[in-house]
Amino acid sequence: MTELVVRRLLIDLEQPVERHWCDGDAFLTAWFNALSMSFPIGEQFFIDSVRDGFKALPVDQQARFRTEVQGFVGQEATHRRLHGLFNDQIARHGLRNEWEPRARRRLALLAGGDVRHGVAITAANEHFTALFAEWMLAHPQVLGRSEPRLRTLWLWHSAEEAEHKSTAFDIYQALAGSHAWRVKWMRRVTVIFLSDALRQTVCNLRADGSLWRWSTWRSAARHLLGREGLLRTSYRPWRQYFREDFHPTQQHSDLSANWLAANAASYTRVGA
Ligand SMILES: [Fe+2]
Ligand SMILES: [Fe+2]
Repeated sequence: MTELVVRRLLIDLEQPVERHWCDGDAFLTAWFNALSMSFPIGEQFFIDSVRDGFKALPVDQQARFRTEVQGFVGQEATHRRLHGLFNDQIARHGLRNEWEPRARRRLALLAGGDVRHGVAITAANEHFTALFAEWMLAHPQVLGRSEPRLRTLWLWHSAEEAEHKSTAFDIYQALAGSHAWRVKWMRRVTVIFLSDALRQTVCNLRADGSLWRWSTWRSAARHLLGREGLLRTSYRPWRQYFREDFHPTQQHSDLSANWLAANAASYTRVGA
């Protein structure tokens, strides 16, 4: 069992956010804004799926997961609340969230089905999130001269994603979810997640008036496909998910623990 601490972040998200808040970089700002737009609906879905999966477990198995599920729900609920506040600020820049209604329509199709589908989708997304988190924590310089409160928001979220990356996966295994469906959902989630993220990024850049700037595309190429880029460095660990003996803990998360230890002044522990 993993001990998951719920933290209250000591930052103020009621203050306006600069238009190009991420190091003055239009592409990075649009990309992170797109991801943030998906969090309130996505993380609610993860919470609901993990809760449903937990309830479907035999009673003797539930005891093993009870505290971990509470921690998972507490962490994700805090993420969606803070990103909701962040999203209110970026909406003032004239951005429109087209991802959320699309995701809502898609998720409605799952209602009433086997709970393991929701848990498998969550596990696949959590693998993606963990890879993204690892990249953020390894490359904090992408946040460059961003305001300290926004650096804290993104690095704290990354650190907690690394902490709870096994929860949905372990519940899926405990529910005797099959390998075939686990990897099938990973394939689908990969296509859906990447196309949604890129579509929303383009939409944000268009609203910002910076879609057709050379500097925007140069930053996209460098941060996604460059030698240290997100997609390039994540490809190998993403592939590992397809192995039958894969488990999220096979991929290290030391950077998460280091960040949480070094930044203890940025948060308080809830219930401590
Ligand atoms: Fe999260
Ligand atoms: Fe998560």
